[in-house]
Amino acid sequence: MKVVDTPQDMRELAEVLRRDEAPLGLVPTMGALHEGHRSLIARAREECGAAVVSIFVNPAQFAAGEDYDTYPRTFEADLEACREMGAACVYAPRANAMYPGGYDTWVDVPGLGAPLCGAHRSGHFRGVATVVLKLLAACLPHRAYFGEKDYQQLVLIRRMTDDLDLGVEIVPCPIVREDDGVALSSRNAYLSADERSRARAISGALFDAKRMVAAGERFSAAIIQPCVDELEKAGSRVDYVEIVDPATLERVETINGAARMAVAAYIGETRLIDNILLEPDDEA
Ligand code: PAF
Repeated sequence: MKVVDTPQDMRELAEVLRRDEAPLGLVPTMGALHEGHRSLIARAREECGAAVVSIFVNPAQFAAGEDYDTYPRTFEADLEACREMGAACVYAPRANAMYPGGYDTWVDVPGLGAPLCGAHRSGHFRGVATVVLKLLAACLPHRAYFGEKDYQQLVLIRRMTDDLDLGVEIVPCPIVREDDGVALSSRNAYLSADERSRARAISGALFDAKRMVAAGERFSAAIIQPCVDELEKAGSRVDYVEIVDPATLERVETINGAARMAVAAYIGETRLIDNILLEPDDEA
């Protein structure tokens, strides 16, 4: 497995991989790899001739006061996991190789970047779109794999690749959950034992919402309020609970077709996100 740390070297290697091992898959990550990431790498390995995993904690997607400095960094273990999973290459650029002095180009997807997390994390999606475009430009994949846990990110990246005619297939991959329902996230590492147990309220509220829809409830407001109550009862601070159109991310008042219910809530100091697909024909 090759480890590459500059955009120029990555591009050189990617040109060879793209030609000789097509289709080439990319799994973009910020490291601290867990089973969710492993499922993306496994899928890329299954569906592609070669898989590149990028590991880069992107400063541009953290607002001032967020957890850029403390974000878990487990580089050696991540390399080992990638090696074990058969990745052809890890691309791990340094921040000054991605954003050298004078750097001045940013990608904005203002419509899809505005609601949900966009309303609470200033500049976050501009940073995400920019770094993903740079990763795609260096790694030249035919396919890129993104988890549905970051649902807004997934929809926004698909919009960006379509709008800019990048010719990359964005492959959505299902959320991986612990046995008790908690969605895997690198930020779960911040949780104390008590917080980890309270974090179950997030997926619990989403599963309850799905049951309500299966039982015939169609009004978003009637589904959202009990979810907020459940989260607050678990001592969490709710950033948002919303039910949105899965493509436009616009609020849906009545569930007549597929919709996404999305939650962001603080458990202690840790902000966690999760979401679930709601469908009127969900079975009770
Ligand atoms: O989902 C993530 O880990 C990051 O937002 C991504 C896509 C790697 C961009 O930094």
